[in-house]
Amino acid sequence: MLDMASPRSIALSLCFASLFAPSAFAYKPLSDNFLRQVPAASDAELDPTTGDLLGPFLQPRAPDSEGHADVQDHLVQWFASNLPDWTVEWQNSTTYTSGKSQKGGKFVAHHRSNLVFRREPPWTRPGQANLLTLAAHYATPTDAPAGAVGATDAAVSCALLLHTARSLDRYAAQMYKEMQELGEGGTVPMDMGLQVVFLDGGGLQDKDNTGAESLAAAWEKATNPALPASLYGYPNRLNQVSLLLLLDLLGGAEPRVPSRYQTTHWAYQAMARVETRLRGLKLMGTTPSAGAGAGTGGAFLPDSATPVHQQLGMASGWATDGDDHLPFMRRGVNVLPVVPDARPEHAGTAKDDGANVDRKTVQDWSRVLVGFALEWLDMMEVEPAASARRRRNHVRGRP
Ligand SMILES: *[C@@H]1O[C@H](CO)[C@@H](O)[C@H](O)[C@H]1NC(C)=O
Repeated sequence: MLDMASPRSIALSLCFASLFAPSAFAYKPLSDNFLRQVPAASDAELDPTTGDLLGPFLQPRAPDSEGHADVQDHLVQWFASNLPDWTVEWQNSTTYTSGKSQKGGKFVAHHRSNLVFRREPPWTRPGQANLLTLAAHYATPTDAPAGAVGATDAAVSCALLLHTARSLDRYAAQMYKEMQELGEGGTVPMDMGLQVVFLDGGGLQDKDNTGAESLAAAWEKATNPALPASLYGYPNRLNQVSLLLLLDLLGGAEPRVPSRYQTTHWAYQAMARVETRLRGLKLMGTTPSAGAGAGTGGAFLPDSATPVHQQLGMASGWATDGDDHLPFMRRGVNVLPVVPDARPEHAGTAKDDGANVDRKTVQDWSRVLVGFALEWLDMMEVEPAASARRRRNHVRGRP
C-alpha cells in the first residue's frame, strides 16, 4: 500500500508506458517554492579574475598549450575539492592529418583529451543508469587570434556546467540516500544520473576539432556488460545519454536560442517553461526585448509555442550546421543545442574576454539550466521546505 502511494511508483508506471517514446517522459514540474531556491551563479563566482567558476578558463587554451593543461588540472581539482563523489574519466585520442602545408608531407598528430565527470545513483551497475548530459568545449581553436581567451566561446558555457553540477549535487545526494533507505531503484525513472563533459577542440570554428567526434565514437564502442533481465540495461555508453545539452556561445546579452530539432522540441519546451516561470516569479535579472517575429520576444528561449522549423527562420542558421553535438546526433542521441542563433559580439576575436560577458544574462542562464536539470531528474521528491509549516505538509505527503 505504501508502495502504491509513492509518487515514484506512479512516475515509474508512467515512464514504463513511455519508455520508447522519450517525448512523453514524465516528470513533475518544480514548485514555485523550489524555483525560488534555485541557486544562481553569484557575482563573485563569475568574476573574470577572482571567481572560481569563470576565471580559470579565461586564458588562451588551444590544444597542446600551457593554458590547455592548466584548465585540465583545474577541472580535475575543482571536482576533487567540490564534488568528490563524482567520477573523473579522460577520453584521449590522437588523430593525424597530412595537410599540404606540412614540411615533407609528414603527418601531424592532434592529441585531444575530453574530460567526463559523472554522478550515478550509487546502486547502479555499469550500463544501468541513464544520464542527463551537459557538454561544452573547453579549448580555444588552434588558429585563434593570439591571446584570445574565448569568454563566450566557450568559457562561460564551461562555468555554467560547473555551476549546474555543484547545484544539483546536494539534491542528488539527498535523493539517492532517501531512495536507498526506501529500497528503491532498479527502474528507468529511478536510475537517473548526471554527467558533465568538457570537450576538447575549439568548437564550431575549429577545423581540427575532433574532440566530440572521438568521444561519440568511443562511447558507441564502449559496450556495457549484460545485466540481469530484471534490470534495464543500455547496450553502450552512448545509449546511456538520455539527453545531451550542448552549450556554446553563451554569455552575450539578449541571446535567442531557437528550437532546432523536432526530436527534442519537447525538452526545449520544458526548458522554456522553466524560463517563463522564473520570469513570472520575478527571479530573473534580465528583461530581454521582444524579438522581431510574431509571438516572440522577452525570452532566451522564444520558440516554445511554435512548431519546430517554423519559428523565426532561425533553424537553418549557421549554428545548426557544425557544432559539437553533430557527432552525437548522427549516432542517434537526443540533442538539445543551447546555442544562440547569432554569435555574441566579439566571439572568435581577441576582444572576447571577461568584459564581453553580460553577467546578469549568465546568472539567468544558470537559473534556467539548474531548474531544468532539477525537473529532469525528478527532484521534487527532495524539495527544500520554505517554512516550518510547509515542511510539515511535505513530510505528511511522503510515503
Ligand atoms: C589523457 O591526456 C592527459 C593530457 O591531455 C593526461 O594528463 C592524462 O593522464 C591522459 N589520460 C589517459 C587515461 O591517458
